Amino acid sequence: MPYGVQCLKEIGTIYNIPLYFEEFDFSSVAYYKDHGDMLPNDWKATLSKFDAIYFGAVGMPDEVPDEVSLWGSLLKFRREFDQYINLRPCRLIAGVKSPLAGREPGDIDFWIVRENTEGEYSSIGGKMFEGTEREIVMQETVMTRFGVDRVLKYAFELAQSRPRKRLTSATKSNGISTTMPWWDSRVREMAKNYPDVHVDKYHIDILTAHFVQRPNIFDVVVGSNLFGDILSDLGPACTGTIGIAPSGNINPEGKFPSLFEPVHGSAPDIAGKGIANPVGMIWAGQMLLHHFGHTEAAATLLKAMENVLGRSDPEVLTADMGGKGTTKIIGEAIINEIKGFRQ
Ligand code: NAD
Ligand code: IPM
Ligand code: MN
Repeated sequence: MPYGVQCLKEIGTIYNIPLYFEEFDFSSVAYYKDHGDMLPNDWKATLSKFDAIYFGAVGMPDEVPDEVSLWGSLLKFRREFDQYINLRPCRLIAGVKSPLAGREPGDIDFWIVRENTEGEYSSIGGKMFEGTEREIVMQETVMTRFGVDRVLKYAFELAQSRPRKRLTSATKSNGISTTMPWWDSRVREMAKNYPDVHVDKYHIDILTAHFVQRPNIFDVVVGSNLFGDILSDLGPACTGTIGIAPSGNINPEGKFPSLFEPVHGSAPDIAGKGIANPVGMIWAGQMLLHHFGHTEAAATLLKAMENVLGRSDPEVLTADMGGKGTTKIIGEAIINEIKGFRQ
């Protein structure tokens, strides 16, 4: 996070973008420990004043149950700020090695558009006969025409704006026999408005196989909340590491702040060691700039990041990218690269 903020500040200086930051330590440890909750009661009013939230991952599963920390913060933001688009790029960047044999930059370059406020992540359900042999647990998948159509529209428009104009829909209409055939029918319906977009669909099981074996066929992939979640760890893993992957949780209407964060979590297994890859966080800052129309500034930040990664220096790349660099080494390298763009 500190390197992400620093990158934004450097870019802001070059492009004269008046960025104003305020920090809130709403973390599982700091805030939860003292308050027994992830956020203060007035969080919505407080955060609504901002244009964007730049979010560091939460989660300390040994101290706070994940469903408490995530439903108490990130998932709450997504829902209550109606960030119904979760936009996640998968791009193989020069200098970062793909675990897939023979894949070069250009071979993997697509977007995942994930439905972000409903679907499998619903709070409808519950438990009965708890603790008995007849225990029942249920959690309903909830899809609404309003919710599905708006994410499909966004995905079709994104596909239409790209040279290849391809949209892939993630389905499972063979097994999930109510929601998924209906999802497919909404895709068919929406496709009528975009005759120039080439649409295909794959069941989620074979789709994961294609991500590994034929990642080059994808351009824009749209999926439900859970399918999009799974695909957006697999996709970046195919580009080398989830440590570089960014994510925009977007309220396209701008009625509420959008939230930009890395795809990865709090990585408790390496926390405090100073070796976390900051690129996902930095790239999320790039998405933030782009979202607000600072396209040139965003392009410069991307270039700085790509230049550093492109050198493929093992002293700079972090361990998840096969190097022995630290967060500080690569973070500072990207900041220095940005400084090099000053006139
Ligand atoms: P994770 O993404 O935190 O970690 C998975 C693996 O990837 C770990 O081995 C980790 O060391 C590695 N990794 C992740 N980010 C990295 C980075 N920047 N550099 C190098 N390696 C990195 O996923 P998890 O282990 O499933 O979850 C850990 C905690 O984070 C849980 O509490 C989970 O709920 C939470 N989580 C939070 C978010 C979020 O706040 N956005 C997202 C995912 C998971
Ligand atoms: C993500 C994360 C979250 C999700 C978790 C932490 C609730 O995995 O942003 O991809 O499932 O959406
Ligand atoms: Mn995830």
